[in-house]
Amino acid sequence: MTMEHIFEKGKEGNEWTLLLLHGTGGDENDLMPLAGMIDPDASVLSVRGNVNENGMNRFFRRLAEGVFDEEDLIFRTKELKDFLDDAARKYGFDRSKVVAVGYSNGANIAGSILYHYENALNGAALLHPMVPLRGINLPSLKGIPVFIGAGKNDPICSAQEAVDLEKDLSGVGASVEVFWTNMGHQLTREEVEQASVWFKKKVKGEDS
Ligand code: MLT
Repeated sequence: MTMEHIFEKGKEGNEWTLLLLHGTGGDENDLMPLAGMIDPDASVLSVRGNVNENGMNRFFRRLAEGVFDEEDLIFRTKELKDFLDDAARKYGFDRSKVVAVGYSNGANIAGSILYHYENALNGAALLHPMVPLRGINLPSLKGIPVFIGAGKNDPICSAQEAVDLEKDLSGVGASVEVFWTNMGHQLTREEVEQASVWFKKKVKGEDS
């Protein structure tokens, strides 16, 4: 199934693509400024979730706040992964250099891709995420850089969720960095700046 999206080709010589995934009620325009902060020269694929919850876009259904419809989550995770494969062919970007940047519901679908597929993402910045699914065996994520931006006092995505997520991902070899904020569920400039530093160092391997 197709997904509404924006694709912007990056600067010649920059092979990275940022996959932007919005939060509940957002759309593909929301995180575009983040791409500019993280790597203004990278290509950008910003996608709109296909689920509509009372007029709000999401990437998968939920039964209640924080309670996911697991069957739909698994279906939608594959839908997004397949879309990514198709988009790489259509736009000609390097499929092995895609890094997700997701906020809230968008972070959770990005997390779910990591939980289900090996080699589907080359890194991920998960901003205010939860554990997408519990009790499953994760694929090897050896050396995959992951940034988690989490609020100590986040009422929607609790600190414990970030701690458990970090444990799961590190357990299968991902290189995880957690940055804590104190602004509830709000996305802060500070954590996006930290994600930008992480991207340069851990994903692109630049020195400073
Ligand atoms: C979710 O449903 O993915 C999380 O509860 C976060 C959100 O409200 O989007």
